[in-house]
Amino acid sequence: MTSQIYLALDFPEWEEAKRFLHDHNLQGVPVKVGMELFYREGPAVIEKLKQDNHPIFLDLKLHDIPTTVMRAMKKIAELEVELTNVHALGGSEMIKFAKEGLVNGSGSQITKLIAVTILTSMDQQTMNTELRIPGMLDDNAVHLAETAQNSGADGVVCSVHEAGRIKKACGGNFLTVTPGIRLQQTESNDQKRIAAPGFARENGSDVIVIGRSVTKAQNPNEAYRLAVEEWDNGIER
Ligand code: C5P
Repeated sequence: MTSQIYLALDFPEWEEAKRFLHDHNLQGVPVKVGMELFYREGPAVIEKLKQDNHPIFLDLKLHDIPTTVMRAMKKIAELEVELTNVHALGGSEMIKFAKEGLVNGSGSQITKLIAVTILTSMDQQTMNTELRIPGMLDDNAVHLAETAQNSGADGVVCSVHEAGRIKKACGGNFLTVTPGIRLQQTESNDQKRIAAPGFARENGSDVIVIGRSVTKAQNPNEAYRLAVEEWDNGIER
């Protein structure tokens, strides 16, 4: 089964990430490794996290010509992480090739392929006027999720506000991965479309990614446990 709560390890280098996990007794929790840490440390950081039994979501958001993405995914498959991702805007052929790379490069356990629909940093106006993509943002996110599913993706990264519609369109087994999570008891930082863990779960998220609500908390261990509790118990009314 896929892990449900990934801690975003947004640190500039491994030593800092390692110290954080150790000091706050978070060994073994599922983690998301993004571009910052991976570009600095390379595949070695994945091996180190695996030695400490962390399930891993490798968040590199590939978007290139299909063959290049396939070859890159073959390399990523060798790292044997749980989840990795591409941009759905790369198109159906690119997503199919990405899946092919993961399948061909994997051993017994195949890394799940997640497609980013539309970044939560994108707004309606920018999508329509700057990128000249017509339509409503949430309709386009659902359409991209369907395209990703038909191309072999196992799920999508989406806003909590689209997760329910995507589940309806793509079915219960298609994973919805949601960032922009804040604990009910903490402030929002710079994220605009935020949701608490319980709210996300009740609105169709299968997996959440939580970063600063934990990493910047006064007591990160307590904050992480609180996220698990809020996720397990659903939203307080
Ligand atoms: O600190 P915070 O909980 O906002 O971190 C969210 C994590 O999820 C970051 O690593 C960020 O890169 C990632 N993310 C996001 N919005 C997306 C996709 C990924 O915030 N649409």
